[in-house]
Amino acid sequence: MIAISKILLCVSSSIAVYKSLDLVSKLKQAGHEIVTAMTADAQKIVTPVPFKSLSRNEVVTDLFDDNAVIAHIALTDWCDILVAAPATYNLISKIACGIADDAVTTIIAACSRKPVLIAPAMNTAMYENPILIENLNKLRKLKNYNIIEPAEGYLACGTTGRGRMAPVEDIIAKIAELTGDSARGAASCSKITAAASVKSPAAKVHPLRNKSVVITAGPTREFIDSVRFLTNPSTGRMGYALAAEAVKIGARVTLISGPVAIAPPEGVYSKIDVVTTKEMLDAVIENFADADVLISAAAPCDFRFIEKLGKKAAKKDIIDNAGLRLEATEDILEAASVLKKGQLVVGFAAEDNNHLANAVRKMKVKSMDMIVLNDVSTKDTGFASDYNKITVIEKGSENAPDDFEKASKAECARIILDRAGALMAKKIKTRNGKKLK
Ligand SMILES: Cc1cc2nc3c(=O)[nH]c(=O)nc-3n(C[C@H](O)[C@H](O)[C@H](O)COP(=O)(O)O)c2cc1C
Repeated sequence: MIAISKILLCVSSSIAVYKSLDLVSKLKQAGHEIVTAMTADAQKIVTPVPFKSLSRNEVVTDLFDDNAVIAHIALTDWCDILVAAPATYNLISKIACGIADDAVTTIIAACSRKPVLIAPAMNTAMYENPILIENLNKLRKLKNYNIIEPAEGYLACGTTGRGRMAPVEDIIAKIAELTGDSARGAASCSKITAAASVKSPAAKVHPLRNKSVVITAGPTREFIDSVRFLTNPSTGRMGYALAAEAVKIGARVTLISGPVAIAPPEGVYSKIDVVTTKEMLDAVIENFADADVLISAAAPCDFRFIEKLGKKAAKKDIIDNAGLRLEATEDILEAASVLKKGQLVVGFAAEDNNHLANAVRKMKVKSMDMIVLNDVSTKDTGFASDYNKITVIEKGSENAPDDFEKASKAECARIILDRAGALMAKKIKTRNGKKLK
């Protein structure tokens, strides 16, 4: 039995339109159902005929063609996902501004309850235009919009740079991810096999898929002068592993990172670099209202110098200076707890001696839903290691902490995200149950 995804493909006028024909062909061969809509200018590059033939479906070019059906509503009710590929500068900007003045933009406007995948394609100068950057960022912030970044390479205008529509295989994989059909999507990128048309249990939708997950990572720094600072040995590996695993399950990840020496995982929705604890706090607060989950894996510096010396100071001046006195920095989770409105909050406690009671107290005081106790007492776990040994404690089950064996940080990240996902599912169920009463 083939599980068919219903894909609504919106095509605008870029030379990359020929790649969309390949996209339709591959999706069709993988068993998906496709309806295409084309802008008037797209039809100047290629007629609707090849789309009709490859999809074996009608192509929508005018909403007023058939008054018996309100096509933009019927189609967006019907589809599982809308894919705008190629998406021109013009189309992206119209979507971001809420313009609905032709068949394609009206269909996209009506598709506010389903995932929308946008594959930009344009000349590099257009792609780097601050207006487009702002419009794309606006869309990235919206829950159902997903941007598949264009690639670098040779462009139809004869130049080389970023702006080539993402490869068809990547678009198919992203569709699969967004429709929870990763097994079939991945398979259809290579060779279409019989097994590829069967929905795999592994494709079960993770409760955090499409959820907005904010993750903090790494240390922060508090400066005494322009070059010397107070910090801790955090390398950011746990937070980055969480971000990488969250991306894999289809979450929309905002990574707020202190200074670290590791590369950010691919596919994070936004990465915000900070240096001080106050900067990390500001970034968390700015992103918290729109978040479904906050995972605080960073190790912010707990103290800052009361008086800071502006430029690099002489050793003697530092020793003699009363500025060596410290004050506590802001507590990020405490500040977030005041603003909490249904977000799931996961914190970490780095303890030398697995101080369970301490972790439970922290969880309560800071309104966390779950706390992960980190064993930092040995050299091969915790800070600067690829491994961790964690204990997970959930709110309401404080007396039943779950101890896990030493595992890679990626494995620990999967455990934490699965537990957070289960809590999220429980939260949604409870909320819906309350609504029904
Ligand atoms: C041959 C040709 C190729 C074009 N390719 C692109 C492109 O890749 N990306 C883009 O944003 N605009 C491109 N344009 C400009 C758009 O077609 C133009 O802005 C158009 O008005 C967009 O309309 P639409 O978004 O409704 O399809 C191209 C124009 C021509 C003539």
